Amino acid sequence: MVMAAEEEKSIQDVLSLPILLADRALKSAQEAESFKPENSELARQVTELSQLLRSAARLTTTSPAVYDRPIRRVSLDVTKALDRALTLARKCRHKKTNVLHHVLSITTAADFKKVSALLDSSLADTKWVLSIFNQDTDNWSINLSLPPIATTDPILAWVWPYIAAVHMGRAEAANELAILAQGNDRNKKIIVEENGIPPLLKMLKESGNLDAQNAAASALCNLADDPGRVRMIMDASGVQVVARALPEAPMRVQVTLVNLVARMVEMDADVKEEFGKENVTRPLVALLGMDVDLEEFKEANSRRTVNSLHLIVQINKEMVKKGVHGLGSGKSFEGSRHHSHRKDKEREMESPEVKLRLKVSCATALWKLAKGSLSNSRKITETKALLVLAKIIEKEPVELKMNCLMVVMELAAVAESNNDLKRAAFNPSSTAAKVVLDQLLRVINEDTSPPLVTPAIKAIGCLASMFPAKEKRVVQSLVAQLSNRNLDVAAEAAKALGKFVCDDNYNRKEHSQAIIEFNGVPKLMNLLRSNNRGPLHLHEIVLFCNLAINAGNSKALEQARVLSVLEGAARHVVTQHPDLRELFAKAIHQLTIYQAGIHTHGEV
Ligand SMILES: *[C@@H]1O[C@H](CO)[C@@H](O)[C@H](O)[C@H]1NC(C)=O
Ligand SMILES: *[C@@H]1O[C@H](CO)[C@@H](O)[C@H](O)[C@H]1NC(C)=O
Ligand SMILES: *[C@@H]1O[C@H](CO)[C@@H](O)[C@H](O)[C@H]1NC(C)=O
Repeated sequence: MVMAAEEEKSIQDVLSLPILLADRALKSAQEAESFKPENSELARQVTELSQLLRSAARLTTTSPAVYDRPIRRVSLDVTKALDRALTLARKCRHKKTNVLHHVLSITTAADFKKVSALLDSSLADTKWVLSIFNQDTDNWSINLSLPPIATTDPILAWVWPYIAAVHMGRAEAANELAILAQGNDRNKKIIVEENGIPPLLKMLKESGNLDAQNAAASALCNLADDPGRVRMIMDASGVQVVARALPEAPMRVQVTLVNLVARMVEMDADVKEEFGKENVTRPLVALLGMDVDLEEFKEANSRRTVNSLHLIVQINKEMVKKGVHGLGSGKSFEGSRHHSHRKDKEREMESPEVKLRLKVSCATALWKLAKGSLSNSRKITETKALLVLAKIIEKEPVELKMNCLMVVMELAAVAESNNDLKRAAFNPSSTAAKVVLDQLLRVINEDTSPPLVTPAIKAIGCLASMFPAKEKRVVQSLVAQLSNRNLDVAAEAAKALGKFVCDDNYNRKEHSQAIIEFNGVPKLMNLLRSNNRGPLHLHEIVLFCNLAINAGNSKALEQARVLSVLEGAARHVVTQHPDLRELFAKAIHQLTIYQAGIHTHGEV
């Protein structure tokens, strides 16, 4: 490995040492008084090596951006070999007399053999390294012969020429790196250690060639499966390069770039925020909504129709500030002005499969960007993302629909702990929120697949505090899910309902009444009795507690003997969740007021 201190030296400085050593070794060998034939062979090797080193030095001065990593690495070994050659040649300065031990003479002869072998290796390595930089510009291929330096690490013999060729803008080489970086962790490690990331980013940024961009994006995508490597991509300005390349790239490249964004974001929280700062959410939402027609929402917006995405963002911001909820343009979402006519044409011509893949990837990336990030969730909801998501959830294929539900779920989860975002994005009186809620409820009522129903239920739960007392259809839909045959879905429904009746919810009494009215108690009791989910049905028990507190005099609770259920569960639950002690005490107290004398009351 080249040490950090070596890295700081300029490549000319690195090469000047072996060149100097070569000159001295040559002089000593020419002046030698003993072992003359060996010294003249040594002089021949050193001369050749010196010429090659000077070629390398010239190469690095003519093209300042040359990929010098292999030269640095090889020069370390070359320097060592020349150092030994010099020492050996110096030993031969004086004519040897008979006094010289025979043994000494034998070791010197052996030394000449060793040094000669070292110089041969250095010659082969240096020739090979130079051949990397003399690649045929029309007819690209790499030197398949293995240099001595790569015998311990054969992968270097591929990685170096490929990286050098990526520096020279060769798409084929980026493609080869992408293949090398598929799956094999050791290859990825070497590509990164040998500085493969910066030229790939440069290619992505500067190449106008679709194949080159795509190959560079694929290689980066394959490398971005480890937090350390994702950091290195970020440190090499990868977030900026990727975010800026995304809007203008051809659609096939966009698919890869969006996958890269999703991968990087998932690996590192700082990367997530960096991508947000680069406003990557905008092209992602725009691409997700490229075929979504938002014409029908035009009425909802009293403002003038505005085409540009940028203005929509501004307008939404103003509306949020003024507490008005409305949306941007009524036109199709693909409004960004800088998309040229040519790009629109290309877009129309892309196959539906590519378009679908792109949208699925965009939804995944938005989902990862929103997850746990207030600033990203803000940026996403400030665009017309909610409308786009709702339209897609309404009728697109399952995978895309599922990913969009995940986006909504993550946005709702962030909004749950931030009132500003909740009010700005999910106020039920705004069109966007209404449309999304309708779709969430439709999924809950009509879909059967748990991966679709679960995020919809979770999202509704996160927004529980937003629903007015008279909004009963939401509670009704959730109550129905308490008897879902999938017990995990049923438990999610119980958890979500818990947020409608908890102490923080202003309308908890009305919601509790509604749950009881829609027959929630017997359903919940059945769910509690199902043993499949382990002994502790925490969400169900907590929901019962809150129903008892808010509607203690309900006949349904009495009939279901909820008091004895709570008393039976209390000790066990409170041992594991001491924070629930007060809730249990309050619930049991409330029930005993109405059902006094029926039970002996256990201590909580
Ligand atoms: C490949 O490298 C070897 C040294 O290992 C060199 O002798 C040969 O000329 C190179 N081949 C090409 C095509 O550059
Ligand atoms: C490319 O290389 C092949 C074989 O090495 C050769 O036959 C062909 O003529 C070369 N083409 C160009 C354009 O140099
Ligand atoms: C992202 O968008 C905001 C708001 O429009 C803008 O102020 C900021 O400069 C943008 N950031 C970048 C990196 O373009």
